[in-house]
Amino acid sequence: MKTYYITTPIYYVNAKPHLGHAYSTIVADTMKRFHRMLGEDARMQTGTDEHGDKIVKAAAAAGVSPQAFVDDISGIFRGLWPKLNIDYDGFIRTTDEEHKKSVQVLLQRLFDKGDIYFGEYGGHYCYGCERFYTEKELVDGMCPQHLTKPEYISEKNYFFKMSKYQDALRRHILDNPDFIRPERYRNEVLAMLDGGVLEDLCISRPKSRLTWGIELPFDKDYVSYVWFDALANYITALGWPNNEGDSNGAYQRYWPGEHIVAKDILKPHGIFWPTMLLAAGIPLYKHLNVHGYWLVKDTKMSKSLGNVVDPLKAAEHFGLDAFRYFLIREMNFGSDASYSAEAITTRINADLANDLGNLFSRVLSMNAKYFAGKIPAVGEQNDADLLLSENTDRAAENYIQLFESMNLSLALEALWVPVRAMNKYVDEQAPWTLAKNGNTERLQTVIRTLLENMYKIAYLLWPVMPAASSTLQAQLGRPQGEFSRAVLDDIIKYRMHLRTGMTIASSSNLFPRLEMPKEEAPQKAVKEKKPAPVPAETPKQPVEFSDFQKLDLRIGVILKAEKHPDADKLLRFDIDLGEEKPRQILSGIAAYFKPEELTGKKVVVVANLPPRKIRGLESQGMILTAESDGKISLLTADSPAGSAIS
Ligand code: MSP
Repeated sequence: MKTYYITTPIYYVNAKPHLGHAYSTIVADTMKRFHRMLGEDARMQTGTDEHGDKIVKAAAAAGVSPQAFVDDISGIFRGLWPKLNIDYDGFIRTTDEEHKKSVQVLLQRLFDKGDIYFGEYGGHYCYGCERFYTEKELVDGMCPQHLTKPEYISEKNYFFKMSKYQDALRRHILDNPDFIRPERYRNEVLAMLDGGVLEDLCISRPKSRLTWGIELPFDKDYVSYVWFDALANYITALGWPNNEGDSNGAYQRYWPGEHIVAKDILKPHGIFWPTMLLAAGIPLYKHLNVHGYWLVKDTKMSKSLGNVVDPLKAAEHFGLDAFRYFLIREMNFGSDASYSAEAITTRINADLANDLGNLFSRVLSMNAKYFAGKIPAVGEQNDADLLLSENTDRAAENYIQLFESMNLSLALEALWVPVRAMNKYVDEQAPWTLAKNGNTERLQTVIRTLLENMYKIAYLLWPVMPAASSTLQAQLGRPQGEFSRAVLDDIIKYRMHLRTGMTIASSSNLFPRLEMPKEEAPQKAVKEKKPAPVPAETPKQPVEFSDFQKLDLRIGVILKAEKHPDADKLLRFDIDLGEEKPRQILSGIAAYFKPEELTGKKVVVVANLPPRKIRGLESQGMILTAESDGKISLLTADSPAGSAIS
């Protein structure tokens, strides 16, 4: 059986879990479930990172011993995950005895090989990051992450010869284009590798300064650098090195795996970890999947800013599966996303209450009304029925492909194409009219066609919304069964899965509409209070409708956004307009947006303007924006790339 292994970062226990930790962990759970749905033997690993200065300081501040402190917070993490329906298989703590012994084996292996040496080092040490910074890396003398002044420390330490593996790593990244994904993070790592010889990594701390760590097996006066210890968890959790040569061991079965991390820890995962693996002669991980930050009012969530979102409270308030859906759908994996009660309410109301919930609710109640809740037989299907089913099947294929490439938000979006098509089909086929006219055979076919397509959607949603998916499947009379690739393939390939004559649920109300939170969403009220908008420019002359129709307006998905190499005001975009190749488009909006936040966004594009050279680059279209009070926003619509606007 094919295996799949996915890990989350192991979280520091100096603070309680927040939405950012929950996101990475829900993504890992969703990926594990997706691979289970594919019939694979999928394993998910998470845990806590418990050594280092940071923890010692937090314990001292709390007035307890480090051990008592880490036991407490690690327990909070471990207790949280089941409440978010996270089906992890392993939870590692870096204070576990087994882990400590395995890290010592790894250290000794590198030492024996001559890849760890003793030397003197002076550097700028940031306690927050637990690492030394070079002069070059500091920003105005401050740590770039914490914006605090690092302490200059000079001492004798052990170093790992990272530079020795620099070329091998660069070659591996070049040969395996999706080793680090999305691409922008791969490019960041390549830029670090190309920026000169890597400095060797200081992997020890003298016990005179820190005792809360794993003792070096070759020098009892030192403990391991916390990152060296933490990164090793991905293999020690599988029992390495005990079963390194054993074909039945967990390490042999599951390694190499996949990692999920956010962009804050790209360097340790993109450089330290793979060079450590190369040195130890252990295969490199399959993919490093890097996501962006959840922001609250444009600021990264952090304990010190007091803007952290409690994931459990949010899940309880909005409903766990709705919350999971929101996180996966809202964040374009790799880019930052904004969290607010308004954003989640809007998303849940639009996608779950209006689209999916409404579909189930209206079709099941019509089935109850017209057929006493019994699944009707299907008669001859016409073009509209067949088109609907083809639409669902195509979406299912896209969904699977997008999931496999970690485009989770786009995967859900792909699945909503048939969900919306089904609602439209209900309106167009108007079962109530068929019923009124006594057209029973057609009515049966319409309802059965809908139920069958709904079943496919319900089944496919399981990785993201496990409980809701099971409920929806059960409402259609087919409770969740065993997973296998053959079952999944059959579900997509065949059009009939439900049992004619079986009594099914007569209603469905899984996703009720939510009230817009008051303080955050005074949109309507504001609208009413606001004076009539003043036209931004002098009124334009009326145009003929036929002139307007000459414009080819389309939805484009931003695949890449970056600064124009020679013009500060311009951004250069690669935009998918549903054509064979993406288009290059330039836009003078650099002052208003960070390019990395635009990837994945949908914009309205004028697609039939003649190409124009701007500062040496050809622009093959124009992005539409709206301007108000000196602020620019992008026009957007939630339809697939290439959709025509009329
Ligand atoms: N202990 C290290 C990781 C060692 S892994 C071998 C660490 N811990 S952490 O507690 O700081 O967790 C960082 C991770 O938490 C991020 O990489 C990300 O997975 C998650 N997030 C924390 N804040 C986040 C956001 N605001 N947004 C999204 N994810 C974030 O670093």
